[in-house]
Amino acid sequence: MTLAISHRFITYGGGGFKCKMSKTHLHKMITAKQQNLKSFLERSPYQAYVYSYPHKTAYRPLTPPVKLADLWSKQDRQALFLYIHIPFCEMRCGFCNLFTTVTHNEDFVSQYVRTVERQARQVKSLLGEVSFARFALGGGTPTQLPIDKLEAILNVAEKTMGASLQNIPVSVEMSPETADKDKLQLLRSRGVDRASIGVQSFIESEVLATGRRQTTAQVEAALNRMREANFPTINIDLIYGLPGQTVDSWLYSIRAALRFQPKEIYLYPLYVRPLTGLGRSDKEWHDIRLACYREGRSLLLSSGYTQVSMRMFQRLGQGGISPSEPPTPVYFCQADGMVGLGCGARSYTDTLHYSNDYAVGSREIRDILQAYIQTPDEAFDYASYGFQLDAEERRRRYILLSLFSDEGLNLTDYQNQFGADEIAFPELSQLLSLNLATQEKQILRLTEVGIEKSDVIGAWLFSEKVNQLMQTYDLK
Ligand SMILES: C[S@@+](CC[C@H](N)C(=O)[O-])C[C@H]1O[C@@H](n2cnc3c(N)ncnc32)[C@H](O)[C@@H]1O
Ligand code: SF4
Repeated sequence: MTLAISHRFITYGGGGFKCKMSKTHLHKMITAKQQNLKSFLERSPYQAYVYSYPHKTAYRPLTPPVKLADLWSKQDRQALFLYIHIPFCEMRCGFCNLFTTVTHNEDFVSQYVRTVERQARQVKSLLGEVSFARFALGGGTPTQLPIDKLEAILNVAEKTMGASLQNIPVSVEMSPETADKDKLQLLRSRGVDRASIGVQSFIESEVLATGRRQTTAQVEAALNRMREANFPTINIDLIYGLPGQTVDSWLYSIRAALRFQPKEIYLYPLYVRPLTGLGRSDKEWHDIRLACYREGRSLLLSSGYTQVSMRMFQRLGQGGISPSEPPTPVYFCQADGMVGLGCGARSYTDTLHYSNDYAVGSREIRDILQAYIQTPDEAFDYASYGFQLDAEERRRRYILLSLFSDEGLNLTDYQNQFGADEIAFPELSQLLSLNLATQEKQILRLTEVGIEKSDVIGAWLFSEKVNQLMQTYDLK
């Protein structure tokens, strides 16, 4: 086993303190941690989707609130990610716990968009000089907005925030019914180069069983419109483990998706989450997710896709559109900040992650949205809900995000980022000894088994503090 960074010090423990440990102490600690990892590996591989760290259920009220101008003045602002959240959908799918609501009240939607405009003006003025390297419009379902409101939101990104949409990667989430021709044309003409659509399954009975109104004819028509609109990248989201699904019907859905030659496909394991429609249901459910994952993965690999992470597959080469030249500046998710606008959006700086309060229940989401709409301009100058990252949490975040990307964890970059004496966490070597990761020169990467167990490895790498906060979070 090798872990090439020289272990002059072992840095361990909360609060960013450093302690040098004796070999015996270290050995005991690693053994405990290794047993702990083994017990983690006995769990279901599907724990929670780790796409950021710490999870938003570790956020708490910040007292006193943090002045954003001071916070951002200390942050490198040369390659930021801009994210705008649209918390509206045409339906509430039984599996979904995202921050979103079903509304047909146009006035409410207009007020929401106006509040995003107000928030953007306030935030832009406190950020100082910034450069955005990426923009994403997510939700919810951004294309649920009427077209003039969708345009207003693109204007917020481009005109108010100054993101150069024609020159940076821009991604928008959409659903089949709301992806109409005019909205797609607008998005494409404004520089959107990635259109991501939630399909979940090409078998109607499977989506209907989750409370998602959607016909396969609608899905296929939407995908054809997206192709006609000429987005360089089309992404299709599919879910495996749905009630009533079989491995064969799952493979049928993947093959149906492949007919549209999407550049990206996301395969999501079904997570049955508390307070969602499926979470409240007591119907019997057979867990076929692991078999679906393995079969789905090999189908995509044999169809010319490469695996980028446990969920993400990308088509490269023949027939595909090769990645364009990297734009300048390039966003590096492990280290660069994110500015989130809209209720439900998160913002990341090196030392603080913040957002609004979060909820899953429809009434609670409504209350949080009402409070957002009524926020006075000057309140957008402060963060009042979030998580402060100390040195240990920053290192954990860097390791987690690196391991879950196909680039892997570059130990030299890690060392440059955190200082020559700061080593990777001792438990990383356990990933090597359990064949969950391999090391080539200075790059640590998850193996095939490691990728399959991403959720478990993610949860295992969380700090005690984050675990405790997540466990004591009062979900509403
Ligand atoms: C914002 S939605 C995509 C756009 C649009 N709202 C839609 O559903 O068509 C994000 C994606 O997350 C995935 N997702 C949400 N909740 C999930 C869950 N509980 N289990 C697995 N995947 C989930 C779905 O595949 C969904 O397409
Ligand atoms: S999956 Fe998409 S459409 Fe369904 S509730 Fe979630 S965000 Fe809305």
